[in-house]
Amino acid sequence: MSTTPALRLTPAEIRERIGRLPRIPFAFTPTPLEEAPRLSAVLGGPRILIKRDDLTGFAFGGNKVRAIEFRLGHVKANGYDAFVLVNIGQSNHARLHSAACARLGIKMVIVKPGPKGERIQGNLLLDHLCGAEIIEAGTTDPAELEALLDRTLDDLRQRGYKPYPSTREPFSPIAGTIAFTEASIELVDQLNALGATASRVFLAGGASAAGLGLGGKVLGASYTVHPVSTGASKASLLNMELNLSNRVASEVLDLPKLMTEDDFTVLDEYVGRAYGDATPAVVEAIRLAARTEGLFLDPVYTGKAMSGLIGEIRKGNISKDETVVFVHTGGTPAIFAYEDVLAAE
Ligand SMILES: Cc1ncc(COP(=O)(O)O)c(C=O)c1O
Repeated sequence: MSTTPALRLTPAEIRERIGRLPRIPFAFTPTPLEEAPRLSAVLGGPRILIKRDDLTGFAFGGNKVRAIEFRLGHVKANGYDAFVLVNIGQSNHARLHSAACARLGIKMVIVKPGPKGERIQGNLLLDHLCGAEIIEAGTTDPAELEALLDRTLDDLRQRGYKPYPSTREPFSPIAGTIAFTEASIELVDQLNALGATASRVFLAGGASAAGLGLGGKVLGASYTVHPVSTGASKASLLNMELNLSNRVASEVLDLPKLMTEDDFTVLDEYVGRAYGDATPAVVEAIRLAARTEGLFLDPVYTGKAMSGLIGEIRKGNISKDETVVFVHTGGTPAIFAYEDVLAAE
């Protein structure tokens, strides 16, 4: 990955610019960067290093722990006292916001799409434990969900709250990208300490991948980010990565919009039928990681991302001498809601 020197920033400059934002500490960092020698051997190389962001510590961890530091910093600094999400029952995002809001004394409300009476397991169980108010929408129709969100916000205002409708707030989507722009410094430092030069970073596509791409580029890192789609088409995921990374470049780092399509190698061929489809390749990836490294991946995000890494190795697109980083972005509580596909041999 090459950047003109004028567009490079030092780690101190990145930290200083990000440090201007309100922030509440939640994550235990640095998270480990671990070798996965048995997984690598079974796949016939390359060297695989796993960035253990499932171990960010708070409320069963995951990539969102870094993001909530900024999102809830923003919420608190702007005087909101209720946080409203529209999100599904097995959302890791909702679980971490439920837990963080509990810790901060902020009221948490989840407008939950889909059928009523969902089994209370995995992340949804944890939302309940944290005391989140859960409004079962009984629909997935976007217009009906927006109308229900309006009514929920009105109701909260009438009850005296100042609610933060996360899905409508412009700052909300870039919180994770800011966090992972900063996390790039941590990753590059760890690679340097190992004397390793990573050529690729694989992870589930989204805000975190946008941050690792941006951070890597402004630091002059050796890797290209490979966001593996968990549902979106290649074009729409690429658009998201570019939009988020360029927003953070210009709105936070005071840089031009320097990210281009060459900075991300988006893969959408591992999605299966749709978001949440635990394809045979996903199930195989989950078993392989557990049986070679004692590493637990989830069926929606990390299992799909690993199926992408395995698929690319098997296609011969990654050579034996390369070093690849796989970012474990968490999501492990969702495993317990998928026993029907994961328990069978
Ligand atoms: C386990 C896990 N990995 C990856 C992602 C993608 O997150 P982001 O868009 O914040 O990078 C999510 C989002 O919910 C997730 O729960």
